[in-house]
Amino acid sequence: MKKKNRTLKKKYRRLILYVILITIIVCFSVHFIKVYKYHQTSEYKLLKVGYDEKTVAALLKKLDNNNISALINKKKVESIDKIINQKYFIASHLFDYIEYYKKNTDKELSDVIAIINVGANKPWYEGSSVTDETKGFAVLVNKFHILSENYDAGEIKKFSSTYAYGTVRANITVYEAFIQMANAARKDGVTLVLSSGYREHDYQEKIYNNMVKSKGQEYADKYAARPGSSEHETGLALDILSTGMGAFTDNFDKTDAYAWLTSHAHEYGFILRYPEGKEHITGYSPESWHYRYLGVDLASKVKSEGITYDEYYAYYLAK
Ligand code: DAL
Ligand code: ZN
Repeated sequence: MKKKNRTLKKKYRRLILYVILITIIVCFSVHFIKVYKYHQTSEYKLLKVGYDEKTVAALLKKLDNNNISALINKKKVESIDKIINQKYFIASHLFDYIEYYKKNTDKELSDVIAIINVGANKPWYEGSSVTDETKGFAVLVNKFHILSENYDAGEIKKFSSTYAYGTVRANITVYEAFIQMANAARKDGVTLVLSSGYREHDYQEKIYNNMVKSKGQEYADKYAARPGSSEHETGLALDILSTGMGAFTDNFDKTDAYAWLTSHAHEYGFILRYPEGKEHITGYSPESWHYRYLGVDLASKVKSEGITYDEYYAYYLAK
């Protein structure tokens, strides 16, 4: 009896030992698999490159798989956290930002983002293509986004001499918006007078070519758009001046009319298209007189962001 008991106890002990052993093996294997799996994750690989946890979390949130894989295979980029946290950061441009910033360390990072977003790291007009003309009043026209030969400016209407020096025309919606705006300005004691509006392609060509002839191409490109790339060809742009100026635009930015437009143009759907200090983004010398119709909603949004339309379009409207 005693002997039987002892063998039973022995069997139990062995069983318990097996169970413990198997449990240890299972636990160890589970742990090993977990560790192995974690080592395969982008999180682990990015940490291994040298990014801190906060940066890794942000990278995983903002970048797609292709960008993440490319980053894993590169040396640590010191400024990456600052780049991805920029307001107008676009993930697909990540490596263009990095490269451009490396070569232009004197530039503000927000400017680097803006330049890359609008494509202004390239020479003006290089790689330009036909703009998306289905965007309606939001159509982008600049040195990289050109109008097709078939662009339809819609119904064009001529302003009376109350509102314009000489013959000035615009798309009918813009025509109506300007008259409303000019009448409101007049109530505030400010006179707005137009010096230019809708231009046919051939006329824009003449303006540009004349300027090239008299001042050279480099100068002309700062002040006039090449045919096909002028907002005036859309009927959505107006050159606005005040009385007593004739058609001269100089010093318009010192007038009451300019101050009034700065506060109110967006309420009627217009934005200042070529602001001071943004020549490297728009490609044009500042034009305090050139206003672009976008519609009240979009114009107000662009105004409140405080960026050029080129930047706004690149971030919010481009596909
Ligand atoms: N002056 C502006 C840029 C134009 O020619 O359209
Ligand atoms: Zn203009």
